[in-house]
Amino acid sequence: MIKYNQSARTIKLSNGSVDYVLYINNDNIVETAYFGKSFKCENYNALRNYNTVFVDTYFVDGEEKYYEHGFNFQASRLELGSHARIDKRCSPVIIRRGNGSYETDFRYVSHASYKGIKPLNGLPCAHGENCETVEILFKDYTSELYATLFVTLFSDKDIIVKNFVIRNGGERVELLCAKSMQLDLPSMDYDWVHFGGRWSEERQLKRSLLHDGAQQVSSNRGVSSHYENPFTYLQAKDATADYGEVIGFNLIYSGNFKFDCECGVWQGTHITYGINEEDFCWTLNNGESFTTPQAVISYSYAGTDKMSQNFHSFIKDNLISYRHDREYKPVLFNSWEGCYFDFGTDSIISYIDDAAKIGSELFVLDDGWFGVRNDDRTSLGDWKVNGKKLDLHKVVEHCRKKGLKFGIWFEPEMVSPVSELYSRHSDYALKGENKTEHTAHRHQYVLDFTNPAVVDDIYCQMRTFIVEYKPDYVKWDYNRMVYEHVSPRLGSRQGEVYHRLILGYYSLIGRLTAEFPDLMIEGCAGGGARFDMGTLYYAPQIWTSDESNPARRLFINYYTSLGYPLSTMGTHVNDSTITDYENKANFALFGTYGYEMNPNKLTEEQCTQLKKVADIYKQYHNAVVNNGTLYHLLSPEDGNAVCLQCVSQDKTQSLVLFATIASEREKYRFLRLKGLNPEYNYRVEGEGIYTGEYLSTVGINMCSQWFNEHTFRLLIITRE
Ligand code: GLA
Repeated sequence: MIKYNQSARTIKLSNGSVDYVLYINNDNIVETAYFGKSFKCENYNALRNYNTVFVDTYFVDGEEKYYEHGFNFQASRLELGSHARIDKRCSPVIIRRGNGSYETDFRYVSHASYKGIKPLNGLPCAHGENCETVEILFKDYTSELYATLFVTLFSDKDIIVKNFVIRNGGERVELLCAKSMQLDLPSMDYDWVHFGGRWSEERQLKRSLLHDGAQQVSSNRGVSSHYENPFTYLQAKDATADYGEVIGFNLIYSGNFKFDCECGVWQGTHITYGINEEDFCWTLNNGESFTTPQAVISYSYAGTDKMSQNFHSFIKDNLISYRHDREYKPVLFNSWEGCYFDFGTDSIISYIDDAAKIGSELFVLDDGWFGVRNDDRTSLGDWKVNGKKLDLHKVVEHCRKKGLKFGIWFEPEMVSPVSELYSRHSDYALKGENKTEHTAHRHQYVLDFTNPAVVDDIYCQMRTFIVEYKPDYVKWDYNRMVYEHVSPRLGSRQGEVYHRLILGYYSLIGRLTAEFPDLMIEGCAGGGARFDMGTLYYAPQIWTSDESNPARRLFINYYTSLGYPLSTMGTHVNDSTITDYENKANFALFGTYGYEMNPNKLTEEQCTQLKKVADIYKQYHNAVVNNGTLYHLLSPEDGNAVCLQCVSQDKTQSLVLFATIASEREKYRFLRLKGLNPEYNYRVEGEGIYTGEYLSTVGINMCSQWFNEHTFRLLIITRE
């Protein structure tokens, strides 16, 4: 897959579908000769030539010299641009030297390639044998600063993973920007799509045309955030769901990120992506190095669905480390929306009994079980059961007796000012420069996870709980953003706080998942503020949003699924009155299915509806949704109807969700399906028997049906 052509000075990564070709020019600057669909190419040099009217030259001892023909310092497509020199596009690596200078110019030294991908120390990362990696060593031309670029291409999916490790072999420097990748594209004819939003409305698709100048999405809130997601993509202007070039990007990281897209120079697109450099400054002493998180690129020449499917299979095969991820996930009942903080042993036991009646297999006790927490003002940091409120052993035993698994809620990175932990260790919280006034949100502070003693304290508390109560599942929440971020421990190195907080998060969750590998963790952050690849490495599913009304959640789930598998998206039926329970449950099937309501209040008819859909989940979810392929048939961008289809790997089963945003009455509608075997006969429940060919060329005739708004019609399709 990786070939070095010494005479042509190219390193070519190819999996037969996608090629990534690097050219080491005569000045040892590494150019990106080609990135795109595989094709037979004899001469990559022809792909890099620029009009060389405006040449940059340099003088050595009074003699003028030229860079290699075809190289243009300001416009050539590069793997690692220089900084504070001729090239004014933003560089992925910026330092300040001891003398105050910002200049760097990294040149090729050597490279090596191998099968697989190396793990990163302390950071979540891709894994697997189905890939090859080339690492290229660069050295700054006037200092002892080194950068190693890692580029990995997967053999069975069009995914490229890139990152840098920066090593200092000389005098102390400050790293002011340490992005994971640079990618220069020879065109700017793309739509740029990113996923903005807010609490309860995360990951709404935002589309704009790339234009001259800089465009960016970022988070500076300490987590990937409700407001932007690290997933973003470029879609060629002529591309559709299954045609044309689409290039997706993501980052295996949960903290501050920045995707920068700069257009204009030669009408190309210059991308840098990685940790947000705002308030970032990392000291590198002699002998020290800094590892950037891995950036993930999904390349598709067959439309947006291929880009999504690449990401989905990468996340499932090469990212999630939970060893049971490919197995069936139980129907989950969560106590939060049913009773909030207001519960006791008996009421929880009655919840468990009624949850079992609607097919629940895992009961999760949410917030309010610890310290003296009866509202959100106290006790974060005191992870001991509130014995006055609850006999938790009895609750766990009751779950086991009823054949249910048991799960529990934690918010490990936070502390309430009113808590035992805070009264013992007020220095454990991050604060600002104002020593008398401290900003809080939801009445809580962020713990200083840059301090290993703090991480250790929480680890010991969580471990003690897990050993005693043996939960099968933990919901790991994070309910505020980072505001002032002064760590008492870090002295003048406050530019390291944000990244060290994330390293602290990973060290805690990494320790617990290593020690309890069967414990399933579901990520959460005030709903979906930490829906990212960093979290997915440890937690195979994430609470997608606090918005469970399917009329609104439909948009969140649909758009999230462009970058992340449905199986990672916790989706619950709640008591929203928008439509009936069966309809709401049909929608929740297209995620990991669960419930969140007061089960004591359900009528017999509602229980029957929910039980029926839970049975469908049990029968089909693992093969069709968890391990199947997802197709986006109708997008909310295009009309009032939204449609998702999942197909099992062996193409014998498929589930289709047809949902309406607004009422649609008379309309010609033939729903053409995808991914089926044209030769097979399929039974479409309630519709009849058709060949796969018929279903993809003609489609299911839905003309006779009138659809009210908020209809969630489920089609079950099985091979005859
Ligand atoms: C967050 C979560 C909710 C719930 C509450 C508990 O808002 O998103 O699901 O767990 O915290 O306080």
